[in-house]
Amino acid sequence: MGEVDPAFIQEPEHRPRISSIEGKGVPLIDLSPILSSSNVSAIEFEGLVKEVDDACKEWGFFQVINHGVPLEMREKIDGASRKFFAQSLEDKRKVSRNEKEVSGYYDTEHTKNVRDWKEVFDFTIDEPTIVPASHEPDDTELTEWNNLWPEYPPDLREICQEYGQEMVKLAYKLMELIALSLGLPADRFHGFFKDQTSFIRLNHYPPCPTPELALGVGRHKDGGALTILAQDDVGGLEVKRKTDGEWVRVKPTPDAYIINVGDIIQVWSNDRYESVEHRVMVNSEKERFSLPFFFNPAHYTMVKPLEELTNEQNPAKYRAYSWGKFITNRKRSNFQKLNVENLQIYHFRISE
Ligand code: OGA
Ligand code: NI
Repeated sequence: MGEVDPAFIQEPEHRPRISSIEGKGVPLIDLSPILSSSNVSAIEFEGLVKEVDDACKEWGFFQVINHGVPLEMREKIDGASRKFFAQSLEDKRKVSRNEKEVSGYYDTEHTKNVRDWKEVFDFTIDEPTIVPASHEPDDTELTEWNNLWPEYPPDLREICQEYGQEMVKLAYKLMELIALSLGLPADRFHGFFKDQTSFIRLNHYPPCPTPELALGVGRHKDGGALTILAQDDVGGLEVKRKTDGEWVRVKPTPDAYIINVGDIIQVWSNDRYESVEHRVMVNSEKERFSLPFFFNPAHYTMVKPLEELTNEQNPAKYRAYSWGKFITNRKRSNFQKLNVENLQIYHFRISE
């Protein structure tokens, strides 16, 4: 990744601003009320639910502290990720993603058809993960995604699997808070994730000689339900502020997780909560590591606005779509670098 290939160059209007504004940042939410089972007053708990509601409505993003994920586990996966990416390209490519297996190592991802300044290693939580065999709407055949585990570092597999289970636990707790904040029973979303298609991505953003022209990840929205991101202390994640459309940096907070609403929650909530655009800046000196967990439902989920949240005054804004077909479509266009726009939820929007 030494030379700056034109494939990495963003159009002028999408280039980052090197001195990006700090301003009012994404909310920080203390989850301790849901961790300590005793002595939580109803008022305290309701306050937490209200904070989640406000954050989802105003930002689509928030950070959490006192989330219950042991710091040691995060340090372990971070260490394993650094060791993996420090290997030669040849060694990393031994676990390269391919047409059949969408997990593994990958260094040519494009977002909106511009190449991202990063390399990644993906693995799914469920092994195997069951998905449709193709994106073709009428093809009912299913297939398995299997993880490609590297030989080095030898404990990477176990560390990743353990960390994945922690992410799932936290994700369920967050979905409970989100359900409550939408006025629904706490377990309203649980059933959708029984055969989850969730995955974790280890991201490595190497130093970039032209950080003013490229991005680590171009502007995008996350297609799943919820994302739980760990970023290191370098920083670079930017969120598009809903109030004025400015790109705002998410300041690294030690041991915090960054949570964002994905497209599926936007549809389930019938636009009460929106999936917000974000992107990643790179810099010329420091490499950066991050670890997003994408909480995704079972492939057979038909995603549509929840009936409890729609009525005659507030009719469904989307028609139902198959999550399995959506995700296989995305993975396919990604792999083949089709020169077309990715499938987006607005393609399912019902015109008013
Ligand atoms: C992503 C993403 C942010 C980051 O991978 O979808 O938004 O900080 N990553 O790496
Ligand atoms: Ni993202």
